[in-house]
Amino acid sequence: MNVLGIETSCDETAAAVVKDGKSILSSVVSSSLKYHTKYGGVIPEIAFRMQLETITQVSDAALRNANLKLDKIGLVSVTSGPGLLGSLLVGISFAKALSLAKNIPLNSVNHLYGHIYASFLDKSPVALPFVSLVVSGGHTSLFYVKDFDKISLLGSTHDDACGEAFDKVAKILGLGYPGGPIIEKFARGGNPKKIRFKCSDTNNPLDFSFSGIKTAVLYYLQDELRKNKKAKKPSLNLMRDIAASFQEAAVKTLINKSLLACKLKGIRRLVVGGGVAANNRLRDQFYDLAKASRAQVYFPDKALCMDNAAMVAGLGYRLFKKGHISSLDLNVALA
Ligand code: KG4
Ligand code: ZN
Repeated sequence: MNVLGIETSCDETAAAVVKDGKSILSSVVSSSLKYHTKYGGVIPEIAFRMQLETITQVSDAALRNANLKLDKIGLVSVTSGPGLLGSLLVGISFAKALSLAKNIPLNSVNHLYGHIYASFLDKSPVALPFVSLVVSGGHTSLFYVKDFDKISLLGSTHDDACGEAFDKVAKILGLGYPGGPIIEKFARGGNPKKIRFKCSDTNNPLDFSFSGIKTAVLYYLQDELRKNKKAKKPSLNLMRDIAASFQEAAVKTLINKSLLACKLKGIRRLVVGGGVAANNRLRDQFYDLAKASRAQVYFPDKALCMDNAAMVAGLGYRLFKKGHISSLDLNVALA
């Protein structure tokens, strides 16, 4: 079955066609990022206006790239949340209109579960059950996945998401938005052991907190600038060391907590997803440390770590096969 996926939860307008929940026939992602960069974050009003303007072209492009017409689509799958209210409404309204006009069944999926499903696209499936870490710009959560309709939350962030902390640290260093890829680039030339940054502890060891470490970076930078009164801005070496030391602390926390979750659940399979999963230091360290704990870790291809509609189409199919279906009174699910 060919499934058309629609994803509009944040700044992207994305559509994709996926066959039988596995093979990506097309995946189109249009981002309004360049309109947000000068504000240092996504402006919801700009995001949903751009999505309204582009959704039809993006969906048409996904069908064209897959060489299919709408009459060959067996299901429309759309993200219903979490995400930005106006943006989600654009995708949901569009998906409903297609479903009603062309009499195609409709399904809705959770965006975070979509990130988990990204590891199942164009790859052999991971055996159930498994533990999953979703680490993005809006969320940092650990899940126990018994099946795709039986997912329970093990822990999540109390404050900032990990990707958000990367974005804020980049902003503190004056490096632009989005911060993740820029921090990763700067970290490559820095010493990860230079500064001892640490993520705050949490009562539930499977929860996260990234707000304190971001403030620690700010204070460290201010101290360094105070010590060297002549310097108006940090040297390149200082920025590299801060980026590397911050990244190292964030990566260490993500890995330790994920492996702890595996240990507590007695599971040796771990699926990672979300924008931060594209980080090479995280991927390399995860592979090494998971091997040491005799766990198997799975990552999606890098392009599928970012928001995309292929994961939405794939998961929608999987849920449809298990008997799930949405009606035309489908609404946004913000939580
Ligand atoms: O999953 P995603 O595309 O959107 C959300 O659902 O939030 O994730 C975007 C986040 C941003 O915070 C971005 O800075 C971060 O993922 N990110 C990275 C990297 N690439 C993107 N963080 C660290 N290293 C990267 N290479
Ligand atoms: Zn996302």
